[in-house]
Amino acid sequence: MATWSNFNLQNSASPLMEQIIFFHDHTLIILIMITILVGYLMINLFFNKYINRFLLDGQMIELIWTIIPTITLIFIALPSLRLLYLLDELNNPLITLKSIGHQWYWSYEYSDFNDVSFDSYMINYNKSDINNFRLLDVDNRIILPMNNQIRIMVTATDVIHSWTIPSLGVKIDANPGRLNQTNLFINRPGIFFGQCSEICGANHSFMPIMIESISIKN
Ligand code: CUA
Repeated sequence: MATWSNFNLQNSASPLMEQIIFFHDHTLIILIMITILVGYLMINLFFNKYINRFLLDGQMIELIWTIIPTITLIFIALPSLRLLYLLDELNNPLITLKSIGHQWYWSYEYSDFNDVSFDSYMINYNKSDINNFRLLDVDNRIILPMNNQIRIMVTATDVIHSWTIPSLGVKIDANPGRLNQTNLFINRPGIFFGQCSEICGANHSFMPIMIESISIKN
């Protein structure tokens, strides 16, 4: 989960989030190299006196500074495309969780079982008699088995919400009148937090998502 002064991405708890972090780091390295090169060239422009009255064109340098950025972009585009298709792949999921966004809470349905559904509201930190996670804890948690493929179906009843869990690499919009699909795989037991990330009204910040990941035996 996010803690104080956490500037980076949260630690991943799923294989896909791990891949997303690798891609982020890879792209950031390329970005830093470009920034250093362009910064160096721009600073140099201010401090030189290179003048050539007969310089009208430079075919070779224009060829080079067209081809090099093209190759650089391919190095970003191909891993990005790979990741895009990996994220969309569903590998024979064990169970399906349907999550429905409302103003301002989530409700969940376990459609594989007969009539298992519940609402999930944020708990008031001050009014609770036990310690809980302020602004992130809910009264009814989602319980999912670790080390299994899980299908998530997402929709909404009123306005657009977004079902987002940073440590699991899931971020999908919940649209009224539409059913979106994604998947997740949790590779350890624990609790994982998410929040709505589509500006959905006054209490947008107060409809957290909380997943309790447990062994399938339990
Ligand atoms: Cu629901 Cu923001």
